[in-house]
Amino acid sequence: MAKKQTTKSVSASKKSSARKGLAPVVNVALLGFGTVGSSVATVLAASKFPGIQLTHIFNRDVERKRTSAAAKRVPAAVVWTEDINVILKSNVDVVIELMGGLNPIEGWLRKAIVSGKSVVTANKQLIAYRGATLAKLAAKHDVHLVHGAAVAGGVPVIPGMLQGLGGDQVTRLSGIVNGTCNYILSRMETGADYATVLADAQQLGYAEADPSADVDGYDARAKLCILSRIAMHAELDPDAVATQSISTVEAVDFSYAKELNCTIRQVSRAQLEGTTVHARVAPMLVPMASPIAWSHGTQNMVVVSGRFGGDVVFSGHGAGGEPTAVAVVSDLLAVAQGCKSVQLPVRKRKVTGEFLAPHYLRFVVDDKPGIVSAIAGALAKVGANIDSILQRPGYPKHRLPFVVTTEPCLTSVIEKALHSLAKMDCMLERPLCLQMLQIEDKPE
Ligand SMILES: NC(=O)c1ccc[n+]([C@@H]2O[C@H](COP(=O)([O-])OP(=O)(O)OC[C@H]3O[C@@H](n4cnc5c(N)ncnc54)[C@H](OP(=O)(O)O)[C@@H]3O)[C@@H](O)[C@H]2O)c1
Repeated sequence: MAKKQTTKSVSASKKSSARKGLAPVVNVALLGFGTVGSSVATVLAASKFPGIQLTHIFNRDVERKRTSAAAKRVPAAVVWTEDINVILKSNVDVVIELMGGLNPIEGWLRKAIVSGKSVVTANKQLIAYRGATLAKLAAKHDVHLVHGAAVAGGVPVIPGMLQGLGGDQVTRLSGIVNGTCNYILSRMETGADYATVLADAQQLGYAEADPSADVDGYDARAKLCILSRIAMHAELDPDAVATQSISTVEAVDFSYAKELNCTIRQVSRAQLEGTTVHARVAPMLVPMASPIAWSHGTQNMVVVSGRFGGDVVFSGHGAGGEPTAVAVVSDLLAVAQGCKSVQLPVRKRKVTGEFLAPHYLRFVVDDKPGIVSAIAGALAKVGANIDSILQRPGYPKHRLPFVVTTEPCLTSVIEKALHSLAKMDCMLERPLCLQMLQIEDKPE
């Protein structure tokens, strides 16, 4: 993304500083003074990086922000404004966008780029949906567009892949990129139920009042698309990536997962096969031996598999004001020093949610003779073989949860069988179907 720093404003301020015999100064505007924005101001105030000068802060209803506790760390000379034109017409060299969302943010950043300002952003939706066109615009206007904090917050997975893995052919990546889901599922692993943990996550500020973007997988699929673009040079339509909610996972699933030597995590995975990318964001059974199972709480974990370099694991704090601010400020420093990053051609790729994998099927039934043979029959009809049947003691016969695992087969094949099984009178809930992650998993 990063290009040679030749914007008029940066050059002008550099020339004027050079005339005065001072180090060149890069003027910076913060757009958004929320969790991450105020932390960026804190990091900049604490570290006083030479040549970096925060000059403007933009936020709606700005007086509210200006009188906040976080504002006390902001230098007195900084201009606070709620008029975006003040930023666009200023001599700011770099805008740091920390507001989130697509509109009106995209339009404002386009204007900033056209007026010669570089952009640092942590906005995953913007980069997932508009990253390619914004990057072209930035290249045309010879400015930087960097977004190292857009995936995994404080974990340098994007810069790590750009700078450290550009020389490999990455064919597969999988991991945990949504801290909210990881917090919920890793608490459920210790026996808590979904509703209680979600309420706790909302109280702690880990989950929104409407948790859908996290628990239904939309946040993670935006991040998966960004990672696929950087690691596999594959441009994916985020809306085409299959998602499955974690909200149907129950405490009993963790008991059965444990018997299978697994746990359950929201996994985002993508695998390049020819010209197609197999991609999916869903709760999956993860073997306890996999590094993905080791992440707890709001931690993020990404495993990148390359043809030549093998597996590389990134892990750490995926979210939070200060960890994310570190990633943002690191991007700012790279832009200010004109650092270039590796750029390889990106191609649009077809997406499918199909993976050839074993599946975990959990049924809750009013127990009657013949249920297991009906399930076996429905699976056999679509060509899926049963690998194991698990039934823990102690559950009432009139509401009996039990599990069937299958040998590797396509998810669409299993779903076809479940569609007919769900119509049986004895089925008290829609059967739950989870992919079982294996280290050697292959797509269709
Ligand atoms: N929080 C994290 O851990 C984390 C991690 C990685 C990436 N990110 C990304 O970083 C960005 C910022 O996240 P955040 O957690 O700091 O969000 P936040 O706390 O909600 O802060 C956003 C700030 O931007 C302001 N804002 C939003 N829309 C605006 C608009 N249209 N005009 C003017 N001001 C506007 C908000 O003002 P109000 O106070 O009036 O709403 C708020 O002050 C997002 O793109 C997010 O996805 C966050």
